[in-house]
Amino acid sequence: MVLIYFIFASIVITRINYGQSVSMSGLAGAVSLAGSGGDLWAVEGGNWQMAAGLLNRSDVTLHLQEEISTVTNLGGLYELNSTNGNSYTCQVAVVATPLDELNIQFTPQISIPERKLQHTYTTFIRGLLNPAYFGLDKVSDIPELVGTIENPELPFTCISVLKQNKVNDVTYKMFSRQSMTDALLDQIFSIRNETFRINWGAYPHYHAPEKFAPFMLDDDHLYYINAFENAASTMETGAVAAENMARLILSRLSDKKPSSSYGLKTSTADSNLQHPEL
Ligand SMILES: Cc1cc2nc3c(=O)[nH]c(=O)nc-3n(C[C@H](O)[C@H](O)[C@H](O)COP(=O)(O)OP(=O)(O)OC[C@H]3O[C@@H](n4cnc5c(N)ncnc54)[C@H](O)[C@@H]3O)c2cc1C
Ligand SMILES: *[C@@H]1O[C@H](CO)[C@@H](O)[C@H](O)[C@H]1NC(C)=O
Ligand SMILES: *[C@@H]1O[C@H](CO)[C@@H](O)[C@H](O)[C@H]1NC(C)=O
Ligand SMILES: *[C@@H]1O[C@H](CO)[C@@H](O)[C@H](O)[C@H]1NC(C)=O
Repeated sequence: MVLIYFIFASIVITRINYGQSVSMSGLAGAVSLAGSGGDLWAVEGGNWQMAAGLLNRSDVTLHLQEEISTVTNLGGLYELNSTNGNSYTCQVAVVATPLDELNIQFTPQISIPERKLQHTYTTFIRGLLNPAYFGLDKVSDIPELVGTIENPELPFTCISVLKQNKVNDVTYKMFSRQSMTDALLDQIFSIRNETFRINWGAYPHYHAPEKFAPFMLDDDHLYYINAFENAASTMETGAVAAENMARLILSRLSDKKPSSSYGLKTSTADSNLQHPEL
């Protein structure tokens, strides 16, 4: 049983999408550009429905508000203990969250390269932008997406319209590298009815060439999906990595060969389980 669940649940564009400049790999840059065109989509009613729908169709027990603090390989089985004091035993353990800022104690210890996460401060504001801040006369002159260039004097990375509620009542989403102070927001907005801030350890701080953590954290069945994020960090790449991980697990579980020959190219009785391209 998998106890840490697969939840799909990440120039101006790399700055907006990854909150950092262009010293990243070609793939990460390309993914970032792919996220900037006009053909982006979202699920009507909210993307959260994707995770909810996937969970709904899976035969899983979801433990919310419960944090795994230790993962112990007991030899063939993993013991996962949570901060709630619960202890679970499972055959396969999949880590589906970045380990960089977590303090999960693995026994035996695992070894992964150090990776820094880029923090993106996201601020949601309901109100109205102040055109004077942008050197404009009317709110309608401000574009739906305001991007910025690399300049330490600019306090935010981008501001975009999330929802037009009424004429002078708009919900905006703002990304920045530091928390937005009230004083600063009062300059940028003429009306500010609601403000909601989140500090996200959003994605790896990219620096080509990337050092990847292993997808298999030991020789048994401890896996790490988010190692893939060094290539690119999005919902789609996370889904692809998770699917391949699931295939790898099925393949390795059905494989009776010695562990030294385990790997992505191992042949299995069911050829549908192979993904040699990855
Ligand atoms: C501001 C921002 C904007 C983004 N925009 C986009 C976008 O437009 N398009 C796109 O495709 N991607 C976007 N991304 C990236 C996307 O959100 C991530 O790639 C995606 O959410 C990664 O999914 P995940 O399941 O690997 O990790 P997460 O979604 O981070 O899920 C990990 C889960 O593990 C849980 N967890 C952590 N520690 C423990 C523990 N010890 N025990 C149990 N559970 C634990 C966490 O609570 C969390 O629920 C964005 C990210 C950010 C931050
Ligand atoms: C979950 O499944 C139930 C029953 O099949 C359905 O009524 C509900 O709409 C589903 N929810 C989601 C988010 O898919
Ligand atoms: C996990 O919990 C079990 C049961 O309470 C306990 O025996 C074990 O020592 C715990 N493991 C760790 C690493 O704390
Ligand atoms: C927002 O605040 C302004 C000024 O305080 C007020 O006039 C307006 O009705 C508020 N709008 C909403 C949607 O709450």
